[in-house]
Amino acid sequence: MELTGGRPLHGKVRVQGSKNAALPILAGAVLHRGRTIVDNCPEITDVRWTVRILEELGCRVRFEENRLEIDSSCLQSCRIPGELGHRMRSSVVFLGSLLGRMKTARIPYPGGCTIGKRPVDLHRKALEALGAVITEEEGYLCAETSGMEGTVIRFPFPSVGATENAILGAVLAQGSTQIYGAAMEPEVLELCRFLNEKGARILWKGQGEIRIEGVKSLQDSRFVLMPDRIVAGTYLFGAIVSRGRIFLEQAPCETMQEVIRTARLMGAEAEASAGGLWVDGTRAWKSPGQIRTAPYPGFPTDLQSPLMTAAALAQGVTVLEERIFESRFQTAPQLRKMGAKIALEGRTAVVAGTRRLHGAQVEASELRGGAALALAGTAAEGVTRIRHVEYIQRGYEDLCRDLQELGADVKIQDVAS
Ligand code: EPZ
Repeated sequence: MELTGGRPLHGKVRVQGSKNAALPILAGAVLHRGRTIVDNCPEITDVRWTVRILEELGCRVRFEENRLEIDSSCLQSCRIPGELGHRMRSSVVFLGSLLGRMKTARIPYPGGCTIGKRPVDLHRKALEALGAVITEEEGYLCAETSGMEGTVIRFPFPSVGATENAILGAVLAQGSTQIYGAAMEPEVLELCRFLNEKGARILWKGQGEIRIEGVKSLQDSRFVLMPDRIVAGTYLFGAIVSRGRIFLEQAPCETMQEVIRTARLMGAEAEASAGGLWVDGTRAWKSPGQIRTAPYPGFPTDLQSPLMTAAALAQGVTVLEERIFESRFQTAPQLRKMGAKIALEGRTAVVAGTRRLHGAQVEASELRGGAALALAGTAAEGVTRIRHVEYIQRGYEDLCRDLQELGADVKIQDVAS
């Protein structure tokens, strides 16, 4: 991707469907012996890999123009092959639905990635509490059950994926399950909505409490996916970085309160209106001070890198504390190549704002950091070339097209290695 900076972003862009809601929902379709339609499904690499997994399990899948149709009546396998599972560590969420439907599952042990070790101990404890026996064999997680049984699950930490696995494992279990300390992210609530529309009986009590009454079976359904609050937040910070004014169509403002509060601290105007979010970043030059990432409704870890880019161009010093993942500052060395002044100390980044960044050859090494580098390229003087845009394409339908629509000077060709 090649960007020539200096043009404030302006105009409007439509926010795609949510990646982090789509992935557990597609796994959830496996619980039902029948048809599931998911509309507003983003055309991103992570969804395409999940479709490959569904087909590998024996489902019939059609994916056209953001509509995903799944027929899982002919599911005949419970094994996810190594090469698919390793590309998609979030395929671990198939454990719960395969145990619920087939009483057995074999998935590649989801390795760590650039942002952290990504253990799955909380997933295992929750599913074992529901009656699964899980072992590790030659790099695979092997799970068996004679039948999932409702229970009480207490999470010491509100893990998003582990909460989703527990819900998926409990939907068809015998009896009721009570979860305490569950993740409250909107994508978890969206999974519960999706499952309830298929006939599940899930009560979202708030404050991390979820109650699930096991049912015998689910039914055909058609579900429209919520917009992606992280993609919307990425473009919100794009308006701040480039000092532009943009309208984010379909932005899920009600789930972006902490992000909107942070934007206002920087001097941006951000107002929900007409089914979207207006962002005016023309006077957004102030540092937001100290920001700590936290479980929802706190500041989302997935927007820490885009915020770092905005802080690099703000007046004053910003202290960013990354409290969710142990190594999510890969963007910093790349932003330093563009002139940013960032000091890292463990889980804290101290960003001393500067008036200008300059173009450079930089590398994406994970999804949100890659998007943050693209934002920096829209404001930097001169040309920025970003290698490994495939990381960005895992979660953004077409960042290049969206930035072009917002007036940025950007071309997609990946820089040859
Ligand atoms: C989900 O990952 C999202 N991915 C991540 O988005 C997001 O950053 C994260 O939630 C936090 O909001 C999807 O939904 C597909 P966690 P997940 O379990 O479920 C530790 C993106 O850019 N932990 O809440 O893996 C873990 O190591 C991606 O879209 C355990 O210790 O997140 C981490 O430090 C990146 N044991 C913390 O909890 C476990 O068993 C948060 O992890 C599980 C997690």
